[in-house]
Amino acid sequence: MHALVIGSGGREHSIVKSFAESVLIEQIFVSPGNAGTDEIAVNVIIDLKNHEAVVQFCKLQNIGLVFIGPEDPLVDGLCDSLRAADILVVGPSKKAAQLEGSKIFAKKFMEAAGVPTAKADIVNSVESTMAAAKNYTAPYILKADGLAAGKGVFICRTLEILESAAKKIFVEKTLGAAGETALLEQNLPGTEISFLVLTNGETFQALPLAQDHKRLLNKNLGPNTGGMGTVAPMDIPHYLYHKIIEKVIQPSVDQLKKENYLFYGILFVGLMIVDNEPYVLEYNVRLGDPETQVILPLIKNDIGKVFHDLAQGQLEELSFTNKKSICIVNAAAGYPGNPVKDTPIHLPIGFQPDVYILHAGTKLDANGYIRSNGGRVLNVIAIDETFEKAKNKALELNAKINFEGRQYRTDIGNYQSKRQDT
Ligand code: AMP
Ligand code: GLY
Repeated sequence: MHALVIGSGGREHSIVKSFAESVLIEQIFVSPGNAGTDEIAVNVIIDLKNHEAVVQFCKLQNIGLVFIGPEDPLVDGLCDSLRAADILVVGPSKKAAQLEGSKIFAKKFMEAAGVPTAKADIVNSVESTMAAAKNYTAPYILKADGLAAGKGVFICRTLEILESAAKKIFVEKTLGAAGETALLEQNLPGTEISFLVLTNGETFQALPLAQDHKRLLNKNLGPNTGGMGTVAPMDIPHYLYHKIIEKVIQPSVDQLKKENYLFYGILFVGLMIVDNEPYVLEYNVRLGDPETQVILPLIKNDIGKVFHDLAQGQLEELSFTNKKSICIVNAAAGYPGNPVKDTPIHLPIGFQPDVYILHAGTKLDANGYIRSNGGRVLNVIAIDETFEKAKNKALELNAKINFEGRQYRTDIGNYQSKRQDT
């Protein structure tokens, strides 16, 4: 079978790597891909907004499975266009993708499903935001309704900061149409968990729990980012795990069914655990980045087969290794504000199956050398018996990367190491 993977990040390199190991998949195309996917697949440029062009490519190359990494094509309804042409794809319908595409749609879905979430008001101006804020306590959370490439959530310590965030969204319109409306939401202080499930809109298969580290610097300091590192499986008490299933995951999947959504894909539930109670922060309708990089290596099944089945609405029973995995993100200088691009990168050679580098924002220059091409540039992945060992192995390989100005955290895995190893 031939497969097409859409996207260009570390998540997509991870999927391509798993597809390359699948007995079902003979050839992989990636659009647009990166310098890493170029080594094991064929990078192709397709205008992803032109659905007819994607369909034509799939027909021409006899593509038996399409896997879409990022949210934009999903929210844009690419799955509907592919399915209308009888092409198998993993992902929700355009309607169901609104769970990620609109925070207000998602909040209404959560309320209909009866899952615990922060209380929120819909606002659409500075005045309505400040009026609603009277019923909330600091820090104030203001979330633009639409997709904003990770820049749509403002965590505001004071009313003054909230007012300036509301001005940015509603007056300066920095987020464009994504910021026509927004949610003002109650702050939830706690521990974040990424809980991802494969679902056919009726039942689900849980993936190992992952923990993302959103802040740029060690000890969770510095600005928010797309994610500077992950660990999996996250170790939480059994009773809490079952509470999450019972109060959040099962009712969410039941609601998909009630709404009759076509959802052969991944439901990513962003949770905040407050005093041992789970609350939904957000839904995503795709695999996470960098969650994928630590989740996929723990799955023993053939990933190509798992997703080929899922694209047909079938859920395969998953089995997992007992190992721990860790991902350290290397970001460009200037990230998350204005990442420096085109920096030359020199990588060590000779990776092992359990410690390796995945590419994210990289490209090949005219001479075939690797250069940076984005905010998050490289991922170092390590898998071992304990988080301690995985972390040490990852840091050892990380030290061999030569890439000027790179930023990375050295504390990914610390908390889990303590829980697991002492
Ligand atoms: P979201 O895109 O909704 O997940 O928000 C991005 C990040 O903002 C989350 O990963 C959290 O770290 C933070 N966040 C969002 N909503 C809340 C909330 N109600 N309380 C505390 N932190 C939040
Ligand atoms: N790592 C969070 C996300 O993929 O949205």
